[in-house]
Amino acid sequence: MDTYSPVTAEIAALLEEICGANHVIFRDEERLEPYSHDEIPGKHYRHMPEIVVRPSTTEEVSRIVALANERHIPVTPRGAGSGLSGGAVPVFGGIVVATDRMNKILELDKENMMIVVQPGVVANDINEFLKPHGLFYAGYPMSMETCYIGGNVAENAGGGKAVKYGVTGRYVLGLEVVMPSGQILEVGGKLLKDVTGYNLLPLLTGSEGTLGIFTKIILKVIPRPKYQFDLLALFKDSRTAINAVPATLTGSGITPTSIEYMDADSFKAACRYLNETLPYDECGAMLLVSVDGNDPEQMMDDIELLGDFLEKQGAFNVYVADTQANSERIWKIRRSVAEAFSLYFPRQSGEDVVVPPAAIADVVEEFQTLAEKYGVAIPCYGHAGDGNLHSRVSAPDSWSDEQWEQTLPKLLEELYGVVARRGGRISGEHGIGCKRLKYMPCVVSEAFIDVLRAIKAALDPNNIMNPGKIFAMTAK
Ligand code: LAC
Ligand code: ZN
Repeated sequence: MDTYSPVTAEIAALLEEICGANHVIFRDEERLEPYSHDEIPGKHYRHMPEIVVRPSTTEEVSRIVALANERHIPVTPRGAGSGLSGGAVPVFGGIVVATDRMNKILELDKENMMIVVQPGVVANDINEFLKPHGLFYAGYPMSMETCYIGGNVAENAGGGKAVKYGVTGRYVLGLEVVMPSGQILEVGGKLLKDVTGYNLLPLLTGSEGTLGIFTKIILKVIPRPKYQFDLLALFKDSRTAINAVPATLTGSGITPTSIEYMDADSFKAACRYLNETLPYDECGAMLLVSVDGNDPEQMMDDIELLGDFLEKQGAFNVYVADTQANSERIWKIRRSVAEAFSLYFPRQSGEDVVVPPAAIADVVEEFQTLAEKYGVAIPCYGHAGDGNLHSRVSAPDSWSDEQWEQTLPKLLEELYGVVARRGGRISGEHGIGCKRLKYMPCVVSEAFIDVLRAIKAALDPNNIMNPGKIFAMTAK
């Protein structure tokens, strides 16, 4: 295990000099506490930072990291803290670098269809900003009203529109990164093609803050689709609903923008949380399918075709949300599932498995077999059209904490085994963080992890940048 130097009063004073005393939190438990966790409930995924710094410029970030590297103090970058894998949790203490003050949209380059932003811009604000220009940024994480774009890039966030638009990385054209040495690196740029050297953009995108801190991000934007129609298809049982997902992808002849799945536990929890109602009597699972575009007649044809198709696949009712208000209502329910579960089932493990889309139905079924075997609940929801499922392994109320803690690792190993056998991985969009680190060998080889280690050691020889995340630096 790595040993690091503590953050002394001397270090704190140097950091205050860099960022200004107002932007440093030191020896103040109450104000440090919010930086000790992300959105994963439970005490296991918490660790207090020794100090929090809130820089406002790239140079400040660079000086902070250079100091940390020289003194061998761990640095944990943090966006909005809306993550679900413990990525922003300072597991070795040290310095948390919060990016909330770096929250400016720096440039809209209409001629090149690109936007340049700082990491602390809220994802949804990018779209609000682009709207009057008729432009669109296609990222749509479920926490879009709170999460920061820097975190989205660090996790290569997916979200609800990836069936049509792909994930965050598809839109990242350039990054300014403070490397673990403190050096400032420009990677990519306002370029749609670039094979000048190794392709570092996809390495840094999704690197979970372990290879550097993004201080500037260049994103590709596209023309804003004028309309979106959504369809809610209700099914009696989850098997029929989830089977309809690969069938829609391969057989409907249409590529929807989204195909989201919610089983009964998921949509009921979200409705309860929002005090909402849906016509869900007798409904065991639902699919939320969206199309967007500029030709409302064509889109309505597509929606009708999809509705007919889903009825043939066993939907007993199909509702079309053709107004903005209805559409937002349904999506709000979908976006709230995670929060609702965290509130109602505090003893749970929120999963993010991804499998080839055609395997999704079998995985849901095998998870239910596991749930019965262990006597737990495993409700499922998520981005089924991407083969990406959020399963919430939840303990019954009658279980003691001890029973839960003893059972969960065994259960997760089996659950990830199911995923591995289908050619899947343990995270599609939330990241590995500290939450799933020990389970990496369930789905990837030791040789694969060795390559990750070699990259990390080359770029961060002192292992100061977000240590304790993704993989263990030494093999067991
Ligand atoms: C969602 C988040 C948890 O899809 O990724 O709801
Ligand atoms: Zn998700």
